Amino acid sequence: MTNGDSIVSSGSPSYGMIKTETQGRVAVITLNRPKALNALCSELFHEINDALARFDGDEGIGAVVLTGSERAFAAGADIKEMKDTEFIDNYKNNFLGHWVEQIGQMRKPIIAAVNGYALGGGCELAMMCDIIYAGEKAVFGQPEINLGTIPGAGGTQRLTRAVGKSKAMEMILTGTVNLNASEAQAYGLVSAVFPPEKLVEETIKTAAKIASKGAVSVQMAKEAVNQAYELNLSSGLHFERRLFQATFGTKDQKEGMAAFSEKRKPNFVHK
Ligand code: CAA
Repeated sequence: MTNGDSIVSSGSPSYGMIKTETQGRVAVITLNRPKALNALCSELFHEINDALARFDGDEGIGAVVLTGSERAFAAGADIKEMKDTEFIDNYKNNFLGHWVEQIGQMRKPIIAAVNGYALGGGCELAMMCDIIYAGEKAVFGQPEINLGTIPGAGGTQRLTRAVGKSKAMEMILTGTVNLNASEAQAYGLVSAVFPPEKLVEETIKTAAKIASKGAVSVQMAKEAVNQAYELNLSSGLHFERRLFQATFGTKDQKEGMAAFSEKRKPNFVHK
């Protein structure tokens, strides 16, 4: 057997700052840097990105849950790591750029399960996800102004779209006005709130429901909803219609509609 023919199994990589597990077609990534309240240092983000890319490429996975601990989803970018960095290096290295790019490329849905603090980059990380569920004690905020800086991983853009200009300005300009879980739900930033100990379990249930649908239509639906933030209405409707038409080229559309007509459950094959 030549090298090219041999089967190499790298197995699951071992991570130092996150834990990963799978439950059926759902992957769960748990941030696990408790001493620093899951502050997002480079290594932690590198591991998150690596795990996300791995699950995105795994046909056996249909949705991903991203969570932290009951005390903190993530307390922001790692202040100690970045405090002495200089503009020129941050600019040259496109500091924070790789955070957004990698998650933005995810084709499968990601649901954030936020318990405790989601501050600064932690709030931004949650907002990069497709759905946010919160535990009752979750706290969302953008305190960067207190550090002499501003949100740098999407906070000024995504928070404003989520909660409106006045509340986003109030949060970002004061750095002390935070949203608790029920306020975040009232503003539409999060779509459901659960007792802290039930949060991950309930999030996995939703992820499993999504992962049980046809993977192609799930990806297309995610893509189309995301275009609502990028396109004007007529372009967005056009984009949506083309993808809707494209679903008729999939086995899952044939199966889904046949199953409805035959009064049975669909058996999606994700093709
Ligand atoms: N970076 C580095 N370390 C952090 C951290 C952060 N963002 N947040 C918490 N920690 C560390 C603390 O330094 C402390 O470490 P030590 O035990 O070594 O001192 C440990 O985590 C526990 O934190 P506290 O003792 O402060 O815990 P607390 O319960 O008293 O307070 C908190 C919790 C209110 C979240 C407080 O830790 C805090 O305000 N953290 C900073 C929040 C923040 O400003 N986030 C924005 C960062 S900038 C950013 O994210 C930019 C961006 O847009 C990407």
